[in-house]
Amino acid sequence: MCGIVGYVGARPALDVVVEGLARLEYRGYDSAGVAVLADGELATAKRAGKLVNLREALAEEPPPAGTLGMGHTRWATHGAPNDRNAHPHLDCSGRVAVIHNGIIENFAALRSELEEGGHKLNSDTDTEAVAHLLEDELKRGGDLAAAMRRVCGRLEGAFTLVAVHTGDPDLVVGARRNSPLVVGVGDGENFLASDVAAFIAHTRDAIELGQDQVVELRRDGVTVTDFDGRPAEVKEYHVDWDVSAAEKGGYDYFMLKEIAEQPRAVADTLLGRIGADGRLSLDEMRITDQELREVDKIIIVACGTSYHAGLIAKYAIEHWAGLPCEVELASEFRYRDPILSRSTLVIAISQSGETMDALMAVRHARQQHAKLLGICNVNGSTLPRECDGVLYTHAGPEIAVASTKAFLTQLVAVYLIALYIAQVRGTKWGDEVFAMIQLLERMPEKVDKVLETMEPVRELARSLANERSVLFLGRHVGFPVALEGALKLKELAYMHAEGFAAGELKHGPIALIEEGLPVIVVVPPRARDVLHDKIVSNIQEIRARGARTIVIAEEGDESVAPYADTLISVPAVPTLLQPLVTTVPLQVFACELATAKGHDVDQPRNLAKSVTVE
Ligand code: AGP
Repeated sequence: MCGIVGYVGARPALDVVVEGLARLEYRGYDSAGVAVLADGELATAKRAGKLVNLREALAEEPPPAGTLGMGHTRWATHGAPNDRNAHPHLDCSGRVAVIHNGIIENFAALRSELEEGGHKLNSDTDTEAVAHLLEDELKRGGDLAAAMRRVCGRLEGAFTLVAVHTGDPDLVVGARRNSPLVVGVGDGENFLASDVAAFIAHTRDAIELGQDQVVELRRDGVTVTDFDGRPAEVKEYHVDWDVSAAEKGGYDYFMLKEIAEQPRAVADTLLGRIGADGRLSLDEMRITDQELREVDKIIIVACGTSYHAGLIAKYAIEHWAGLPCEVELASEFRYRDPILSRSTLVIAISQSGETMDALMAVRHARQQHAKLLGICNVNGSTLPRECDGVLYTHAGPEIAVASTKAFLTQLVAVYLIALYIAQVRGTKWGDEVFAMIQLLERMPEKVDKVLETMEPVRELARSLANERSVLFLGRHVGFPVALEGALKLKELAYMHAEGFAAGELKHGPIALIEEGLPVIVVVPPRARDVLHDKIVSNIQEIRARGARTIVIAEEGDESVAPYADTLISVPAVPTLLQPLVTTVPLQVFACELATAKGHDVDQPRNLAKSVTVE
């Protein structure tokens, strides 16, 4: 949450920073602000609301040109989303400016101490305390980096901080604990950002910062130390996608582009993981086959859409790998007493790799000596670094707040892991694993086929734009798909939407059914006859009570047609792989319905892409 950009080089800093903010706006859009250092003076501008408001203010009153600057796009935590609380925040002298992502938990004590010491604070934020603490530390001696290290030692919570000081006009200082910060290494210029997307137009060479590190960014070099000032080891990497991947490419919304990219994303996630002999090879996981043989339980931790991928993983892992598997909301996991041991494998799923709840769950599992495997989409993010091994999804940058292609690639990753464990532990015959891999390899073409037939779904969505509520039902892996469909509709259309296991309906939720209520039902393949027949009965039960039934079923499934007010057909695939095709119409449905309501689907209200606070 919150996007941060810092720049020092030879170009006009304001242009670089504002362009970077535009690429980070998905991280928060409650306010935006910039600071530029020009002629030994700090110039700042900030506005509540989306970046467009700041752009207008800058156009009206352009700040003096400088080649060092920073910018911030905010997802509000402490203090209302207004101009006053927008970042950057300044110290009393106006010579130090600070931007921040995260929450400083001991801010109240720090603010009181500062106020008692005579500082005048002008906002309600936790961040402003840091500007004043830096002011005090600079008076004690040393440069901005030294002051930052001392201040960080006093802060509790999660923070990425970036600061500039008029006393050192060639220096941008960043600090990182628990919130993301990456360095972009250019030629005669360097960048700092929450995400490489902010500087990808200028450089694809990046440095991953570790926990509790301070970075000094100058035009001609980058120095990284720990909070005690000792040189720190850093990991350099090359970003394997370019600026076009972070642009809309002719689509009205990133979400539309990302939905359309799913066949490619699924194919890319399979790429290089299947050997010529048809066997899976996941060496990058960095967990040995022997270690996998010793695993006796798997626990999956994740949030939101990634949690739904985890719920589907459970079915695949138990069926193929024959291991007990639990799935936990990461935010709940560490506040109970989960039973873990050295033979437990904890799989953390996170698109961003920065979700605080997921990171905290990973740390909790680490303390209990469990083995840790991450499934992540963002190279250089925190989660992979904190796990023993990682399987990257290759979805490319996902910018729309609502997760789409990341979800489908997470499913591919969990299928690969489940099949790999089955291969290693011998719970499935080699030819069974091979047959399933071959089916997986055909999934991009199946997803493509779904995308080609979405016009009726879009029409349906537009016709339902004024409904107050939509229910989603599924059984088996169709249940998490129903949850995912409901989540998409809630976050994009701001409508009441709920997903239920169809078998649970009779235990309460059926009381919600009333005349005309749209209910979307995900039907399992006919091959799963018992499951299939049970859900057909559920459809009849709700229809008899007046529900408007919208049924997603495999092509050729005539048995559901008499009970479906609307029938959406998807290609026939095996049950466990079905979420790859049944989720897509639900994404399209939510996106279109929200657009019909006039919502910005890339930036839904109150949300941010990476949730870096607990
Ligand atoms: C999905 O559409 C959401 N925006 C959200 O639920 C998301 O999946 C969740 O916050 C987890 O994010 P992560 O995968 O980056 O950890």
